[in-house]
Amino acid sequence: MAPDMVASSSFSSQNRPFGMIAGTGERDALARQAIDLPSIQISGHALANLELLASGILAPLNSFVGEADYRTTLRALRLVDGSFFPLPVILKVSDPKGIQSGQSLAFRSSKNNLLAVMDVAEVFERDFEAEAEAFASSEIADSSPFCISGALHLLELPRHLDFPELRRSPEEIRAWFKQAGFTRRVGFATQGPLYRSDEEILKSAAEDSALLIHVLESADRAGDMEQYARIRACRALVERHFERASTLLNLLPLSSDSAGGRGALLQALMLRNCGATHVVVAAEHADLARMHSAAIGVEIVTRVAPVSTPAPHDIRRDYLEAGRALPESLARPEVAAILDSAYPPRARQGFVIWFTGLPSAGKSSIADALTVMLNGSGRQLTVLDGDAVRTHLSKGLSFSRDDRDTNILRIGFVASEISKHGGAVICAAVSPYAATRKQVRSMLPEGHFIEVFVDTPASICERRDVKGFYAKARNGEIRGFTGVDDPYEPPASPEITLPTAMRTPEENALEILRYLANQGFIEALSAN
Ligand code: ADX
Repeated sequence: MAPDMVASSSFSSQNRPFGMIAGTGERDALARQAIDLPSIQISGHALANLELLASGILAPLNSFVGEADYRTTLRALRLVDGSFFPLPVILKVSDPKGIQSGQSLAFRSSKNNLLAVMDVAEVFERDFEAEAEAFASSEIADSSPFCISGALHLLELPRHLDFPELRRSPEEIRAWFKQAGFTRRVGFATQGPLYRSDEEILKSAAEDSALLIHVLESADRAGDMEQYARIRACRALVERHFERASTLLNLLPLSSDSAGGRGALLQALMLRNCGATHVVVAAEHADLARMHSAAIGVEIVTRVAPVSTPAPHDIRRDYLEAGRALPESLARPEVAAILDSAYPPRARQGFVIWFTGLPSAGKSSIADALTVMLNGSGRQLTVLDGDAVRTHLSKGLSFSRDDRDTNILRIGFVASEISKHGGAVICAAVSPYAATRKQVRSMLPEGHFIEVFVDTPASICERRDVKGFYAKARNGEIRGFTGVDDPYEPPASPEITLPTAMRTPEENALEILRYLANQGFIEALSAN
C-alpha cells in the first residue's frame, strides 16, 4: 500500500483514540490478513459512524455496540457500564449468513478499499419494537435486521478532499477552546444553512463565550450541490459575521440516527466531547436535553426562534425551491447568493421524459417531434433511444429479461446523471417491466421522472410493423418478442398517457410540452 494511501487526513496522526487506527507495521499485517478474510461492503452511513467512532467524538464508545449495550441504550439511555449514551450505534447487516462470532471480517468501502478489520464478537437481531418505542416512531423499517459487533482495527478512513480545513479532531477542538480562553464554551450542531435568526440566537447565546458550530454533512454527499451550498453558506456567514477569534466552524459526518430528541442528545454529547460546556438545543428537544444535561455534563441553552421567522423548511419551499430571492430580513446577502446558486429555477432543472410502450407504438416518432419542439423552447436535449442505445451503450445485450433490465437501468443511470446537472433527457425504449421502470424512477428526484405511456393497441402496432419484427415473431423467426410472446406491463399511473391511434406525433408531443410548461420545466407556451 502506498504510504500516502494510509491513515486519514481528517484526524491527525497523533490522534488515535483507544489505539484504533493501526500503526504502520500493524497496518501491513492487517492488510495481509484481510486478503484471506471474508469481507463486507459497508454503507455510507456505517462509514460515517466508523469515522465518528475512530475520532473519539463518541467516547466512551469506541466500537459498534453489542447486544447488551444495544438494549440498555434503547431502554435507559445508558451503556451496560452505566455511562450515559443516548442511542445505540449499531452496524447493521442484511444477511448474517457466513458471519460468525470469533471470526474476523474485513470492512470495505463501496469502492472496495479496505477500511477496517472487525473481530466479530456478536451477531444479534435487532428489536424493531424496542427501537420504535425508543425513537417514538413507527417508521423504523430497515431491510437490515441483524447487527454485528466486536473489536475494530482501523486501517484507513476515506480522505476528505472537500473542506479539509473544517475537519478537526476532538483534541484539536479542545485545544482551540483552550487557547480561545473563555470558560463558557457554547456548542451548536446544525445541518445548515444559518439564517439571520440563527445568527442572532447564536450571538446572544455565545456572549462572553467561545462558540463551536458543528455542521453535519450526510454520508452520500458527492454531487449533492445543495449540501455543499449549505456548508459554504455556513462558512461564509461565520467568516464575515462572527468573531474570528472566538468562533469555530467544524464539519462532522452526520449519522442518520441523529434525528429527533435522542439525536439532539447525541449532538450534545459530541459537543461535550469537543469541550463544550453549554449546548444550544432547539426548543422542541430542550426539555429532554435538560433532563439529561447532568448526565451529559453540559448546560442546555434553548434555541427559541422569533415568532415572526419562518421555519427553515418553509424558507426552502417558499423561496429557494420556488426560485424567489431570499430577502435580507431572512438571510445575509452572502448566504442568499450561495443558496440561490444551488437552487436553479425549475426552467434550469433537469428532467427525464420516459417513453414506454410496445414496439412500433410510436415512441420514436413522438420523441423526434418533441426533440425539435423542445429545442425551439430553448432546452438542450439528450435523446436515448432503445434501438440506438443497443448499438453502443448496450451493444451485445439480448432481449432476455435480465438483459432488458440491464439495458433499461443503463439508460436510466445515464439519464439521471444528465438530469442531475440540469439536462433534459428523452428516453424511448420499450421498457416492458413495471418494476424496472420504477427502479429508474427512484434514481431521480420526485417530479423529475415523467413517465409517458404510448398507449397504442397491440393490433395497431402489429399492423404498422415498421421494422418487420412482428411478422418475424409471428412466423417464429424471432422468439420473445414484446407483445407477441413476451409480456408488456403497462404503467399503472404514468404522468402522461398518449392515445396515439387518433393523434399525430406532433399533437402528442404538444401534450407533453404543455405538461412540462405546467410543471415549470419550460416557459409557458404561447396561446397559438
Ligand atoms: S427493451 O425491452 O430493452 O426496452 P429496446 O427499446 O431497447 O427494448 O429495443 C426494442 C427494439 O428492439 C424494438 O423496437 C425492436 O426494433 C427491436 N427488437 C428486436 N428483438 C426484440 C424483442 N424480442 N422484443 C422487443 N423488441 C425487439
